[in-house]
Amino acid sequence: MTETDVTVVLGTRPEIIKLSPVIRACEQAGIEYSVIHTGQHYSDSLDSVFFDQLELPTPEYHLGVGSGTHGKQTAEMLAGVEEIILEEEPEIVLVQGDTNSVLAGALATSKLNIELGHIEAGLRSFDRSMPEETNRVVTDHVGDYLFTPTAQSAAYLREEGITDERIYVTGNTVVDAVKQNRELAQEKSTVREELGITGEFALLTAHRAENVDDKDRFRSLLSGVGQAAVELDMEVIYPIHPRAKNKLEEFELDVSDQIRLVDPQDYIDFLTLESTATVILTDSGGVQEEACILGVPCVTLRENTERPETLEVGANRLVGTNSARIVDGAHEAVQTMTHWENPFGDGTAAEQMLNTLPVSGASEVEQ
Ligand code: UD1
Ligand code: UDP
Repeated sequence: MTETDVTVVLGTRPEIIKLSPVIRACEQAGIEYSVIHTGQHYSDSLDSVFFDQLELPTPEYHLGVGSGTHGKQTAEMLAGVEEIILEEEPEIVLVQGDTNSVLAGALATSKLNIELGHIEAGLRSFDRSMPEETNRVVTDHVGDYLFTPTAQSAAYLREEGITDERIYVTGNTVVDAVKQNRELAQEKSTVREELGITGEFALLTAHRAENVDDKDRFRSLLSGVGQAAVELDMEVIYPIHPRAKNKLEEFELDVSDQIRLVDPQDYIDFLTLESTATVILTDSGGVQEEACILGVPCVTLRENTERPETLEVGANRLVGTNSARIVDGAHEAVQTMTHWENPFGDGTAAEQMLNTLPVSGASEVEQ
């Protein structure tokens, strides 16, 4: 046994949020762990704000890779993670999700014959034009412990020839994160007062490369959301990701007066906005899940989703970026009953994962 049992690799906003329950569970069980931050996200509003609010320790290693083309960014992270893993010799490396940081962490680990755990394994959009799909598929195929959120994601893995010994259905750590922070959000968040929200509103997030990097698609998305806002007589709050903000400026797109652009929010403020919105419009993966968990109807601004469970329980509908379909989807969503079962587990995913891994102290994690 080496000094570090578990090394966690992360780099972006959703990874920090969804790994926070895992890091907490390591602390609770006295597991020796270290964190490598790739630096893929570096703006305070996508990065340090979450470490502060979720009370996460400062990562032992920070690669400072930053933005870049897929190849360059991934290559720099791969080289950086490899160097640290060689030094740390962990028993297990954990990655979460489908970003370039995940791909780099997975490849570096696998090539060094160190065991790899993939959290949120088995998601498939079946759309290889998305960079995230390549990252997920490759990571699952080199992973040793594949922690899937649902039986459906486990089934996708089996269909690709992955055997049962590598698959563990644990639920998604996003449920753990929502449970751990929802009460805090209710007690502490003043975001509604700060934004002067008094009545019904819709919440929008859109940042996916396939939507915002394409001028026509982004224009159509904004126009559909603006039209829906007028017809539903609701303001739309749009905490805008820097990628989308840059593209909005570059393309000089018009934004309806009914859509209010605000800075990216911290987690408890965003949870508050999500749980009090009448409807959520999004192209985010994590936001589709959280809307479903929080019982708020969701309209997904994509043609496909790797979260089909949200569609099956009636929490979500796919509308793409066509303006008329967005308007129809928003009307349908606000008429939806909001009682459905959360398909993503009971909020003990992090504990289940650590109890599965062959690391010292893991048996002490409470169920
Ligand atoms: C990445 C993930 C995406 C995930 C998203 C979460 C990949 C391929 N994409 O997309 O799956 O949904 O994170 O938010 O890994 N930028 C900043 N500050 C930052 C980070 C980025 O201003 O801290 C801007 C830069 O202009 C950068 C652009 O956003 O070029 C895109 O950043 P990047 O990390 O490449 O991808 P995301 O769109 O954030
Ligand atoms: N989120 C946040 N503030 C925001 C927007 C999103 O805290 O202004 C959180 C959200 O609650 C979810 C995660 O960020 O947990 C989703 O990340 P993102 O949409 O960037 O990435 P994706 O899930 O699409 O990969």
